[in-house]
Amino acid sequence: MKINYLMIVISSVLFLGCGGDSADDTKEIPDDVTSEQPQLEQPQLEQTPESQLDLKMKISDISDGYYGLLYDAGGNELKIDKHQVLLMQKVFMDELNPHLSDDQQKNFIELANNFADTKKPTEIENVLFNNVLIDAMLSKTKPQLQDKYFPSFRLFRHHTHRLFPISRLTDYQWIIDLLSQRSLLDHFILIPPQETDDYIDTCRENNVPIPPDWGSTLWKYQGVAAVDFLDNDKTEVWAYESSTVQGACIALPRWDIRPDEGINEISLLGIICQSKTTGKACFWDNLSKETGLRIKGGEDLTFKISDIKNGDSLGENCTQCHRGKNVFLIHPGTNLDISADYDIDPNIRYQPVSTQASWSNPAAYTELGGGACASCHEIGALSGGYCNILRNGANTTMPNTTSPANWNGSHAFYGDHIQQMIDAGCPE
Ligand code: HEC
Ligand code: HEC
Repeated sequence: MKINYLMIVISSVLFLGCGGDSADDTKEIPDDVTSEQPQLEQPQLEQTPESQLDLKMKISDISDGYYGLLYDAGGNELKIDKHQVLLMQKVFMDELNPHLSDDQQKNFIELANNFADTKKPTEIENVLFNNVLIDAMLSKTKPQLQDKYFPSFRLFRHHTHRLFPISRLTDYQWIIDLLSQRSLLDHFILIPPQETDDYIDTCRENNVPIPPDWGSTLWKYQGVAAVDFLDNDKTEVWAYESSTVQGACIALPRWDIRPDEGINEISLLGIICQSKTTGKACFWDNLSKETGLRIKGGEDLTFKISDIKNGDSLGENCTQCHRGKNVFLIHPGTNLDISADYDIDPNIRYQPVSTQASWSNPAAYTELGGGACASCHEIGALSGGYCNILRNGANTTMPNTTSPANWNGSHAFYGDHIQQMIDAGCPE
């Protein structure tokens, strides 16, 4: 009974903000739900037919996230748009409910009531609030469940911040006040906690070259990337070499070019530096440490390395794909292959510098010398993201662009090895 009651309350909180500002909303949610409904116990709210929820898109299905995209455990992209967010939150809360005690459920009901009573929340306020509620609910569940669900939820929450950008925190003061009265402010995470950041120092201690700030003339342009597995409009390659620390840095500005919309800017800019002597690698991405938002711009874009997120603070796990003997994913024979001028082959197999437990370069799936694909380089440990790269490679660049092996396993020499990777869990 209590569970049902909580579901009703949460559902109504969720739907209050769906004022139908777009046609898509009305497709998903029955009309009557979108109109004024300050009452919290509207029975029909409970009856959101499961068939209307895209069950392929559950928060708990999110397994990896990178470059602003989300993937399930099989490496399939999950396209989550604004209109799915509230529904996904609802379904997830329903999943969590049975794991809470009656008292805990009662507390959350009260909180949800309070929230909905204070003032009719907007969609963005509902999204924010539901994230708080989920974070609070999840932190009350068993540790095993938290381990299972928190990574997915964090990726999801990160994504909602992108879909619903916050310009001024003060606009949400009333939510902050409500939460602090309830000692729940800890669960209101917009900007990840600002711990003192010693990432650059740690990289330096590990003999990793430290990249110059973006805009510095120390970065040397290597040309446009001829092959881009992530299909950006234009991808440039820039490199840096320190005069004192052996190794190399590569920066990869990925451009977003949409002339019709007047957009022509660098939207993504990942930077990786690897030490020749220690094999340690450090990661940065053009996400502001302060706001969590992308720092975008054209040719004149500049930012300080110390102002952007790094291997300790990035939500996206770069090591899901950047694995193997060396950190870099090089398409041989393209501008990305800077090996003639820069030292990208470490003396020791690479390991990431990161305080995040999930960041690693696990032992190879097939060691160098293991035959077929591993004749020239090791095949790193399999993951959803890395499988996609292997598949892309086999279909286009590997062992060379003129006669790629093909992922379908038909190649006499590579076929068995590729089939092993598929059998081991890579998508076909
Ligand atoms: C989905 C897999 C994937 C993830 C996750 C990923 N990358 Fe990459 N990255 C690639 C691929 C593939 C390339 C090679 C160029 C291409 O085809 O786009 C690449 C290339 C790069 C390069 C150029 C040097 C090189 O290795 O070729 C940099 C720098 C880079 N990525 C930074 C990052 C950072 C920083 C992160 C984490 C925020 C990250 N990447 C996460 C797939 C990934
Ligand atoms: C003839 C040697 C050779 C063979 C065989 C070979 N590769 Fe590569 N591969 C390279 C070189 C060289 C690079 C770039 C340097 C590096 O990263 O070690 C590379 C890079 C890669 C990369 C990273 C970037 C990219 O372009 O895809 C992947 C993934 C990859 N290989 C997968 C495979 C797979 C899968 C096979 C088997 C179908 C394979 N390779 C067979 C030489 C080879």
